[in-house]
Amino acid sequence: MNHKFKEFKHDRFSHEQSLKRGLEFCEMMSKRRSIRSFSNEKFDIKLIRTAILTAGTAPSGANKQPWRFVIVESPEIKKEIRTAAEKEEKESYERRMPQSWLNDLAPLGTDWHKEFLETAPYLIVVFKIDYLKEGKELKKHYYVNESVGIATGILLSALQNMGLITLTHTPSPMNFLQKILNRPSNEKPYLLIPVGYPAKDAIVPDIKKKKSGEIMMVV
Ligand SMILES: Cc1cc2nc3c(=O)[nH]c(=O)nc-3n(C[C@H](O)[C@H](O)[C@H](O)COP(=O)(O)O)c2cc1C
Repeated sequence: MNHKFKEFKHDRFSHEQSLKRGLEFCEMMSKRRSIRSFSNEKFDIKLIRTAILTAGTAPSGANKQPWRFVIVESPEIKKEIRTAAEKEEKESYERRMPQSWLNDLAPLGTDWHKEFLETAPYLIVVFKIDYLKEGKELKKHYYVNESVGIATGILLSALQNMGLITLTHTPSPMNFLQKILNRPSNEKPYLLIPVGYPAKDAIVPDIKKKKSGEIMMVV
């Protein structure tokens, strides 16, 4: 079989340029925080579309691009999502989570209240697509979790680059998102990401990132 190839165009930088760009990007990304209190300030959906377009450039197993990004802006649907999420989260915080998990969450100050699901102007719901249905045939996707995780990382970086704030949220279990958003059975909710601007009084937990020596090694 004949497969087409084309020339690869590459932007080559000097060492100094590379380092400057790298350090600037690191500095910008180090300002990203998970924010749990949002302002209701609205903005053009084009920003969200641009970030998702960027996420869609991600590599994926056999280029299957096993993701779907649903933008929720409808206040009614946001309310429905909040109600369903809080129901699950209340159950989790009060009954399902072991004490060790609650202890790990304590420094973050989280609980089952998820007001941000209504105040944030947009929610992005990321779905992973494990397989495609073509007639009776099921076409399997490869390395779906890895692929969708990489695409979501690019999404969060793109949003950060535009000066927007996010929360990586995983109400558990979150199958209710598939139902509320009317997605087919091969699309499984992966993450729920409110996006917007911080509330005036927004605070963040004073937690630390690991130092370079703890996360990398050269052999
Ligand atoms: C896969 C994943 C799931 C998460 N789920 C939640 C969540 O359900 N609720 C929440 O408040 N934060 C959630 N977080 C945010 C983490 O608590 C946060 O990333 C961590 O505390 C580090 O803080 P930072 O994002 O401000 O650097 C999640 C993060 C990841 C990567």
